[in-house]
Amino acid sequence: MSDGPVTAYPATELKPQDQTGGPGLDSKLDPQANWTELEHWDEDGKPYLKEYEGRGLLKDKAVLVTGGDSGIGRSVAILMAREGADVSIVYLPEEEEDAQKTKSYIEKAGRKANLMPFNLRENENCKQAIEGHMKAFGKLSVLVNNAAMQEICNDMAEINLDVVQKTYQTNILSMFAMIKYALPHMTRGCSIVNSSSVAAYMGNPQLVDYSSTKGAITTLTRSLAQQLAPKGIRVNAVAPGIIWTPLQPATKGNPADAMDSLGVGAAPMGRPGQPIEVAGAYVYLASPMASYSTGEVVHVTGGIEMQG
Ligand SMILES: NC(=O)c1ccc[n+]([C@@H]2O[C@H](COP(=O)([O-])OP(=O)(O)OC[C@H]3O[C@@H](n4cnc5c(N)ncnc54)[C@H](O)[C@@H]3O)[C@@H](O)[C@H]2O)c1
Repeated sequence: MSDGPVTAYPATELKPQDQTGGPGLDSKLDPQANWTELEHWDEDGKPYLKEYEGRGLLKDKAVLVTGGDSGIGRSVAILMAREGADVSIVYLPEEEEDAQKTKSYIEKAGRKANLMPFNLRENENCKQAIEGHMKAFGKLSVLVNNAAMQEICNDMAEINLDVVQKTYQTNILSMFAMIKYALPHMTRGCSIVNSSSVAAYMGNPQLVDYSSTKGAITTLTRSLAQQLAPKGIRVNAVAPGIIWTPLQPATKGNPADAMDSLGVGAAPMGRPGQPIEVAGAYVYLASPMASYSTGEVVHVTGGIEMQG
């Protein structure tokens, strides 16, 4: 009997593929990721996949997900639609193909989709994204700050400072802008969920700038949660481990190497996670089930032990 991971998910063998220079596209990911099916186990111990069914946890809410075209953000957008929410997604214009597919899933769930191709590195675009969402749905119940980029650099002496600035602007500074423009529209019971990372806790020698933005996101989450608790607005984060999304091949040519170097070997479950396996944590944090949770970070890592 093999000691390898037993799973019904497809992405246990990662083929070489190149999306270097990203942003990566889900449409080019081979094998395709899984955004909608949960793994269950039958009585003989065999895994099988079953479509996620909503239970009305976000009925008639209006959600905005940045980076909602692909990967984790796509799965969050679909699951929140299945829970009853209308969903805006923000993404880079070159990712239109992925965005259209996410839109079709949201509409299949019987909800409205609002597509906004905006580069969030411009503060003005963050403002327009919030305004565009309000125009489409008239309320903002949940803001999911999920857009991010990363570029590998193995030697700090060689680090490209323009890339450092771009990474900070994309991953953390845009969150300040999104939250600043969103808050006037958010009332008691609304919530914010941010994408942090295992890298915030473990560090990553190849991704010093990216990892430090994720540390900042964790601290932003904890600090803002304290500021907004009296107003009844909850702020939480999810720290994914190594997840099978276009971010990986867009970071490094060979995803098998990338997954290894990014630490998948360190996960006791011995495989990368699928977007759907993380997205449930966002649904939970946004839903009334998490009414007593704020300033929390939910870690979804396949067993990688987090520090801090
Ligand atoms: N995949 C992983 O292993 C992993 C691990 C830990 C944390 N994360 C985090 O999860 C989140 C989602 O990433 P993913 O893995 O699903 O990858 P992804 O490439 O599918 O998603 C990232 C998204 O960010 C958006 N984006 C990037 N730059 C942008 C910009 N300037 N303006 C607007 N949108 C922009 C893109 O639309 C893209 O869809 C990120 O915050 C990432 O740091 C991912």
